[in-house]
Amino acid sequence: MKNRQVAIAELPKERLTEAHFAVRDADIPAPGKGEVLLRTVLISIDAAARAWMQGATYRDAVGPGDAMPCFALSEVMESNSDRFQAGDIVTSENVWCDYNVLPAKKLTKVPDIRPLTHMMSVYGVAGRTAFHGLVGVGRPIAGETVLVSAAAGAVGCFVGQIAKAMGCRVVGIAGGAEKCAWVKDDLGFDACVDYRDPGMFKELKAACPDGVDVYFDNVSGQVLETALFLMNERGRVVCCGAISQYDKAGGTGPRNLPGLVVVKRLRMEGFIVSDFAREDAAATRALQTWVSNGQIKVIEDVVEGLENTPAALIGLLAGENKGKRMVRVGPDPA
Ligand SMILES: NC(=O)c1ccc[n+]([C@@H]2O[C@H](COP(=O)([O-])OP(=O)(O)OC[C@H]3O[C@@H](n4cnc5c(N)ncnc54)[C@H](OP(=O)(O)O)[C@@H]3O)[C@@H](O)[C@H]2O)c1
Repeated sequence: MKNRQVAIAELPKERLTEAHFAVRDADIPAPGKGEVLLRTVLISIDAAARAWMQGATYRDAVGPGDAMPCFALSEVMESNSDRFQAGDIVTSENVWCDYNVLPAKKLTKVPDIRPLTHMMSVYGVAGRTAFHGLVGVGRPIAGETVLVSAAAGAVGCFVGQIAKAMGCRVVGIAGGAEKCAWVKDDLGFDACVDYRDPGMFKELKAACPDGVDVYFDNVSGQVLETALFLMNERGRVVCCGAISQYDKAGGTGPRNLPGLVVVKRLRMEGFIVSDFAREDAAATRALQTWVSNGQIKVIEDVVEGLENTPAALIGLLAGENKGKRMVRVGPDPA
């Protein structure tokens, strides 16, 4: 068996390129006591991976020579733990590689729901982040207006569809006319505005005639600044991520903070999806219901081949993807 890893060759100072990564051959260690040998099936491509290269976040910073960390879905090949056996499907923190040995206590067994890609998208981190951030933090009420940025992306496409299923008016923000039309026509949002359009504020104002009650922020920066002007009194701003700030040096934070939070009595709250782990089963049940009755379309963007993980991440940061981007490293278990 051949094992490859994709490691960080050099940390980016500004825009991420393929030169920041190197593919290398690696040994496959034999699993020790309590350890498990895993074959990678799918790697989640997450915007946050770029933020890990900027320094410590909710996880340690990564540095040159490190195999690139990720969240992955794998098949158990060999197990020295009572909890797992060959053929089990597990998710875990992992690295960009074909094979890895990890302690059993770091693995979570997942149900064999096919297609397995759904365990990465709607029933994975993306769907759960959307559900917990919107329902647990934003707490929209039917009839309210929900605005979401990176609306065509993994988290954003589920946020909007969940809000719609909850009876809200839903407005997206995305990059480019084609993506905006897709968000409206294919995902069923009430409107979608292009953040690259210099007239974004006017467009958003027209799309949200009753103001915004919940803004789900995936991007921060200029878009957050604009959204704050449209918030209604006692509105909720869900801080999920800051993708506009990850792939460049220096930040451009909103200039109307904390002024508008005070004047409009806003609640602005950040969260990490794992904060809501105790609600995961409820989230999965709700998502399964909406998927099975057609209220949520599962949008996935699968890139083939471990060697293409750097390009997949770079492309995600440039807005290439619609829905949940992931890399297929190997076939689904039989
Ligand atoms: N809090 C948590 O627990 C948690 C968990 C998972 C993800 N997140 C966060 O959720 C956000 C979305 O992540 P994701 O993995 O679902 O990625 P994604 O939305 O599938 O992909 C990122 C999208 O961001 C948009 N984008 C890129 N640069 C931008 C910019 N400068 N301004 C505005 N939009 C830009 C691009 O779409 P366009 O074509 O529209 O530009 C791109 O498709 C990220 O901020 C991530 O860090 C948070």
